[in-house]
Amino acid sequence: MINLDFLNSQKEVTYHVEDFKGWHEENQFTGDIWNGGKYKWKIEGLKVIIQQLQPKVIFETGFNVGRSATVMLNYCDSNCKVYSIDRNKKCKPFGDKLTEVFPNFELIIGDTTKVLDDEVTKRNLEIDLAFIDGSHHHTPALNDITCVQEYMTNGSCILVDDKRLIGVRDAVKESNWDGYKEVGIPKWDNGGAFLYQKK
Ligand SMILES: C[S@@+](CC[C@H](N)C(=O)[O-])C[C@H]1O[C@@H](n2cnc3c(N)ncnc32)[C@H](O)[C@@H]1O
Repeated sequence: MINLDFLNSQKEVTYHVEDFKGWHEENQFTGDIWNGGKYKWKIEGLKVIIQQLQPKVIFETGFNVGRSATVMLNYCDSNCKVYSIDRNKKCKPFGDKLTEVFPNFELIIGDTTKVLDDEVTKRNLEIDLAFIDGSHHHTPALNDITCVQEYMTNGSCILVDDKRLIGVRDAVKESNWDGYKEVGIPKWDNGGAFLYQKK
């Protein structure tokens, strides 16, 4: 099982954002990952989860301009397939550029409440890390969690961002976590995140 407790006593983050492939201060097609350090421990959290889990398939709901996707792509193997889905067509150029840098990345345009199950099924995905970061409303967030749970491998993790938001919190509370263990993620910025690992 993964364990992130050591982050409690870790004083500083272990990366330099300038070293990230696919991101450059003057070429922020993936958005400003760093954003003045606003997401500094979130980036560290994603890094250590990926290092411990060594996923072969990562699936994100909610791409936006690809900040988290870029971070995850920098830490997973080049043979790990990374998918992200977003209902906003404006995300496409950002996704295309990210695929140019990371051929193991695919952006799917679609509304998760309508197409998530079909998109995962048709690719025969077995997910090792799901990052739920799409709609912050209760019903779609619950839908995203419930849907990806059908495709999670043994030992895999479901990470749900934005713990502070009531819609997300209720969706997590109402989800069925039988067979999962909750794992603490210290220091995650912006109110924390939930992490569950399948036993
Ligand atoms: C918080 S942003 C995602 C940020 C991104 N995960 C990151 O960390 O860089 C939320 C995104 O979810 C998308 N979204 C909201 N509801 C959705 C839905 N039902 N289906 C697909 N995407 C959705 C929005 O268009 C928006 O781009």
